[in-house]
Amino acid sequence: MRIRKVKSNEIIEVLKFIAETFPNSNISISENDTIYLATENKEIVGFMHTTEESDKVLLNGIGTRKEDRGKMIGTKLMNYLVNKIKNKPIFLKVKDKNFVAQKLYHKFGFIPKKFGEVYILVKQPEN
Ligand SMILES: CC(C)(COP(=O)(O)OP(=O)(O)OC[C@H]1O[C@@H](n2cnc3c(N)ncnc32)[C@H](O)[C@@H]1OP(=O)(O)O)[C@@H](O)C(=O)NCCC(=O)NCCS
Repeated sequence: MRIRKVKSNEIIEVLKFIAETFPNSNISISENDTIYLATENKEIVGFMHTTEESDKVLLNGIGTRKEDRGKMIGTKLMNYLVNKIKNKPIFLKVKDKNFVAQKLYHKFGFIPKKFGEVYILVKQPEN
């Protein structure tokens, strides 16, 4: 398995993959966002969508191919991100019933932080 940035000719395929992963969400990708792909034999098996700002990184979404879940692809994607972003906090939102995702984030040191009525998970930089 390989993790790399998306290529411009893959955007349509990636949007389809994201829409299949989050069928009820309206996904928008801004120009400055970054999409990382996990690929296996040239097929997309997972993605991460981030917005990298000067003082923080937002993890907008992460997803793996349905038939490949539980095979550590999500763990490898998260591992890639936390190793890449060492000097800024990483923020993400997760639904309160999404226990699989919460378990994954917990494993990487994300801690819930309350902003008004909303809980956001934050991983603070190590130094
Ligand atoms: C959340 C998600 C990205 C995890 O990806 P994955 O490739 O299955 O991740 P991993 O195989 O690395 O597993 C991560 C953890 O979840 C657990 N897990 C995976 N599939 C599971 C399942 N079906 N039931 C229960 N736990 C499960 C694993 O046990 C693992 O924990 P462990 O390593 O401590 O045992 C994937 O389930 C997914 O795409 N879900 C739909 C989209 C989503 O909800 N994204 C997150 C919200 S932004």
